[in-house]
Amino acid sequence: MFFTPGTHKDHGLPHNPFKAIVAPRPIGWISTISKDGKINLGPYSFFNAISETPPIVGFSASPGPNGEKDSLINARDTGCFVVNIVSKAQIDGMNASSAALPHGQSEFDYAGLEPIASNGIAAPRVKDAPCQLECEIWKILELPPAPNGASNHWVMGLVTGIHIDDRYIVDGKLDVALYNPVSRLGYKDYAMVENLFELERPKS
Ligand SMILES: Cc1cc2nc3c(=O)[nH]c(=O)nc-3n(C[C@H](O)[C@H](O)[C@H](O)COP(=O)(O)O)c2cc1C
Repeated sequence: MFFTPGTHKDHGLPHNPFKAIVAPRPIGWISTISKDGKINLGPYSFFNAISETPPIVGFSASPGPNGEKDSLINARDTGCFVVNIVSKAQIDGMNASSAALPHGQSEFDYAGLEPIASNGIAAPRVKDAPCQLECEIWKILELPPAPNGASNHWVMGLVTGIHIDDRYIVDGKLDVALYNPVSRLGYKDYAMVENLFELERPKS
């Protein structure tokens, strides 16, 4: 099968398979604060680490029914955001926090999640998330518009602080199989990291 973007329905695919192709995608659970001090939280799976040294992460916000997403507006206005990592224990909270609430209404309250202060930035963290990355905005890129004219934005942040729940450190390593990070696939599907294997890289 071959098709060009936007023509999947002509090929017997009622739902766009793009997100099932680029899968799994880690979930950046983005917490921010507005310029008038209201806290906000939402999951983003067009998200990844894009550089190790210095550590840089990015997420892509597409316009919703109310226009630009609060995470984008707040990150741009205040220059910072936190990436909270979603583990098995946070699945329901993460999903609840994706509700399209009016600007200024906190998804922390809505989803019953506890915010805690960050060390070096104004945006709060999700208390029970196994890891949290404090980020300062490096650049925000406007991406090419969709056919309806709406633009996505790619928000990149320099990681300036790293929090890890010490319970998940085993023999000096962060034990991924212990905290079970959750990833987004296509359609309504998710996957969880439970089984690991190691590979040695070839020696040249
Ligand atoms: C698992 C998951 C991943 C999501 N990924 C994205 C994404 O990458 N980009 C996006 O614009 N919306 C994404 N959404 C939808 C947003 O979370 C949703 O629009 C939310 O209301 C945005 O919140 P905010 O306006 O408070 O930032 C995702 C939702 C879920 C449940």
